[in-house]
Amino acid sequence: MCGIVGYIGHREAVPDILKGLKALEYRGYDSAGLAVLSHEEGKVKCVRSVGRVSALESKLRENKDLSGTIGIAHTRWATHGAPTLKNTHPHFDRKREIFVVHNGIIENYREIREILEREGHKFTSETDTEVVVHLMRSFLDDGHTHKEAFLKTLSMIKGAYGLALMIRSDPETIYVARHSSPLVIGKGEGENFIASDPSALVHKTGNVIYLKDGEVAEVGREDIRITDLSDVPAEHEVVELERDLKQVQKGKFEHFMLKEINEGADVIRSACRGRLRVKDKAVNFGGLRDVRNELLKIKRIIIVSCGTSYYAGLAGKYIFEEIAGIPTEVEQASEFRYRKRAFIPQTAVLAISQSGETADTLAAVRVAKDSGILTLGLVNVVGSTIARETDAGVYNHAGPEISVASTKAYLSQITILTLMSCYLSERRDQEVLDLMEAIDSLPKKIEEVLSRSKDLEVLADKYHKYDNFFYIGRKYGYPTALEGALKLKEISYIHAEGYSAGEMKHGPIALVDGNFPTLAICLNNGVFEKMRSNIEEIKARKGPVLVLSNEGEGGMNDLADDVFHIPRVPEPLEPILSMVPLQLFAYYIGVKRGVDVDRPRNLAKSVTVE
Ligand code: M6R
Repeated sequence: MCGIVGYIGHREAVPDILKGLKALEYRGYDSAGLAVLSHEEGKVKCVRSVGRVSALESKLRENKDLSGTIGIAHTRWATHGAPTLKNTHPHFDRKREIFVVHNGIIENYREIREILEREGHKFTSETDTEVVVHLMRSFLDDGHTHKEAFLKTLSMIKGAYGLALMIRSDPETIYVARHSSPLVIGKGEGENFIASDPSALVHKTGNVIYLKDGEVAEVGREDIRITDLSDVPAEHEVVELERDLKQVQKGKFEHFMLKEINEGADVIRSACRGRLRVKDKAVNFGGLRDVRNELLKIKRIIIVSCGTSYYAGLAGKYIFEEIAGIPTEVEQASEFRYRKRAFIPQTAVLAISQSGETADTLAAVRVAKDSGILTLGLVNVVGSTIARETDAGVYNHAGPEISVASTKAYLSQITILTLMSCYLSERRDQEVLDLMEAIDSLPKKIEEVLSRSKDLEVLADKYHKYDNFFYIGRKYGYPTALEGALKLKEISYIHAEGYSAGEMKHGPIALVDGNFPTLAICLNNGVFEKMRSNIEEIKARKGPVLVLSNEGEGGMNDLADDVFHIPRVPEPLEPILSMVPLQLFAYYIGVKRGVDVDRPRNLAKSVTVE
């Protein structure tokens, strides 16, 4: 969601925080702003603008006079109030003394605002965040110290926050706090950094402190003092950050999304590295070693996740049940967290999350932990909250995923779920051995599909003007249909629905006509004939059909309007290989429709509010 950056040190703050903001822009890009405190003048200058960080940058060029060595900044994904200038962070009080940036949602802001307005505070925005500066103002006016006022303010607000706050009369400190929204402090030499995501710090420092929920920090140039909400000092660990600067550049690609799709083969290799040993018929996960015995006795797995990670979980459910024989449920984390559940003993909850910060998935993990359930994480971002809070887990090691639409992480997630199914199973029969070998050779097949990207561009050209799309599949093709449709809607704004093909005749087929195309996943597998019948039904209603199929017999050329072929793989791996052309198809359609595919409207990469 929103991105927060802060700097306090001996250098000019603006270039650094701007660089940080750019790195965080994928989190939200409705508006951006910054505030810089000039030591000499004793003034805070605040510049805000609607739109991308580039709009803020242009505005900054007109404001040459932005000198200062302490500053905070924000890139917004609007929750409360439209993306207008007055709702852009930083927010400040009437005396322009207190400046705050916030990520999260203050749930009781209406009550607080009413009280403050009755006391005469004048609000200038529609945001939930603004209550923070007025509460601070009120406590400072009552004679409290800066820290006391900050703690009192935090004790009043309910909800989720990652906060950074600067006070004009206090040029030696940035006050930060965290509750359910990530916040990281980067340690430098005579300078310190603040960010809601370590990717904004990777250029500045390799040492970070992850603030925990309920912690508060006074960040100075030299010192960082961390306490709890009662001002009791808290222990903290300085963690070394993984630096991988190359991966956050677009390189030769026009968009991060295209680059990340093209990393598909490599992410499978990384997912398998050190884990899959085909010759030894073995799969190992260092991160699960400590819970291995517990896992071997597991009677049920519940996968919790959101969006693309949820669809990976759906594929995972089929794989776990087929290969490991473990009854598996998959549930959207936003549902799991609020309903009353009946857990059976020996259940494990597996949270899947690229970012490791998704608010609903994190909450689901906490619900499971509170119920005494073993929690596992399948997470891409190293050191993220879900990775730290689960009992054990596996990293994707897929490298940073910058494009808002998740692509390479999905391939990696299903690869690891497949490996996990082998890890959890005692079976080493031919089916499982073939599966292991097929995982090992999957990168080559992905590369082969990628080498035919141009064909998908041609298909995208033919289909990009339609307003609606069905994606249908059966068995392993079903999660693929759902994820394929999600990709298309996210980055093209075409209305796309994913369905299990068998459901079409129970309602959705009413929509089919010559202007409503269907993309059907119809591979040479156990459900081929069933899929073919469903495609016949659509053709009988004049619906254009584009089919993803295997080469050779059953190639579908006789029936479909268009066909894209992929190599054959064992069924559990179909969701991985099938998704590569669907990602490219969505990408090219998005580009042809003029969408900013890396940053589509209304979305943010990391969904840290519920
Ligand atoms: O970081 P996570 O995997 O937990 O994110 C979950 C979803 O927010 C994410 O997959 C979202 O649906 C993407 N925009 C999909 O492309």
